[in-house]
Amino acid sequence: MISRSSSCFLSAGLCYSLGLGWLQKDRMLLGSLGLLLALSTLCSSLDNGLVRTPPMGWMTWERYRCNIDCKKDPENCISEHLIKSMADKMANSGWRDFGYEYVSIDDCWSEKKRDANGRLQPDVERFPSGIKALADYVHSKGLKLGIYGDMGNYTCGGYPGTTLDTIKIDAETFAAWEVDMLKFDGCYSNSTEKAIGYPKMSAALNATGRPILYSCSWPAYEGGLPPKVNYTLLGTICNMWRNYGDIQDSWDSVLNIIQWFARNQDVLQPAAGPGRWNDPDMVIAGDFGLSYEQSKAQMTIWAILAAPLFMSSDLRTISEDAKEILQNRILLYINQDALGKQGRRVITSGPLGVWKRELVNGQYAVAVLNKGTDGTPKPYVTSLGLLNITQCTEGYKLYDVFAQEFWGEFKSDTAINMQINPTGVVLLFIRPASIAHHP
Ligand code: GLA
Repeated sequence: MISRSSSCFLSAGLCYSLGLGWLQKDRMLLGSLGLLLALSTLCSSLDNGLVRTPPMGWMTWERYRCNIDCKKDPENCISEHLIKSMADKMANSGWRDFGYEYVSIDDCWSEKKRDANGRLQPDVERFPSGIKALADYVHSKGLKLGIYGDMGNYTCGGYPGTTLDTIKIDAETFAAWEVDMLKFDGCYSNSTEKAIGYPKMSAALNATGRPILYSCSWPAYEGGLPPKVNYTLLGTICNMWRNYGDIQDSWDSVLNIIQWFARNQDVLQPAAGPGRWNDPDMVIAGDFGLSYEQSKAQMTIWAILAAPLFMSSDLRTISEDAKEILQNRILLYINQDALGKQGRRVITSGPLGVWKRELVNGQYAVAVLNKGTDGTPKPYVTSLGLLNITQCTEGYKLYDVFAQEFWGEFKSDTAINMQINPTGVVLLFIRPASIAHHP
């Protein structure tokens, strides 16, 4: 934890332009990122060195589901062609350079039966070159490949699952294919099997010697408010975990997840940190169901929550508006903050919810979400004092992340006036005033 005076002082002394678009970051900040990364390895998390900041990438499920009909729908079926074309887009349309790194295959990639040696095998028609060749292709683009398995007799889509007996061979198969991430779902097993299987798969992946991001769906299957799992244990065996039901392509679904996260934040928030993240599920901004305002709202809350950002949309046809939101530099900077501290909802006021995340070097992100649907932007007045952002007595600089506007310097009692659009957000990036540069 940076102390009150040092965070103001550190930022004041050593500022350089990093050309972060309209924002200027300072080099000291990067220096302290390194220190924080080193320190954070002391915290208890899965010991594979991965995802010290939330992982970013793309995943098939929400947009492409279990579409296996490559005859009728060759461009959109779960196949090596789909994965390669998304990898091409990720490398060529700026996504990779913004940090979107993992290209992840969800369910429905395998044959319905294991091979003669008891190994999982990809569907021969849809993945004719095999997963190893696909991994090579994805790696050649500077990206990483994710795959999906299930702790249970079958995957949720009815493909072969991983039982307690096949954990070792499946971990070895994924490593031999040079896969970089495993989403391990939890259909068709009971709580006892999960309690044995999830830690066992973690150990089996580690034993392969290949660093494989391990995404666990365990808590999402245990039910309860909050889910009845040991989050301290989860943080030591998994890099990220799903807590709740599947996201669908609608605002209702996004709002439902946001509210669930707020309601359970006392348990969820302390569980997250570098190497171990709560996963509110895929980013659907860029898909069909969300308006422009709602897309900004989803990305904002996911940034405040330090959530993994796995898009599930068609990057070949995505709109420029959506791309601009998903590639907003300051928003991604907030999401990727090296302190790795998940934010919280700190105030509710009628339809408004105020969310706050502490960042490195005494910086903060504050978001106000308006879930109202009465068609009128809602005014909201607050101050840094009311938001409890008072450590730096010389005040703070405020930036509106989506409007890309500098709002000026604020003392703790200066009024902060906002207008929040229906089902929209205002996202503010807040830095100690002592940081020399501003946009
Ligand atoms: C579950 C998961 C989803 C997806 C599907 C695949 O529902 O929660 O994210 O992986 O299974 O069948």
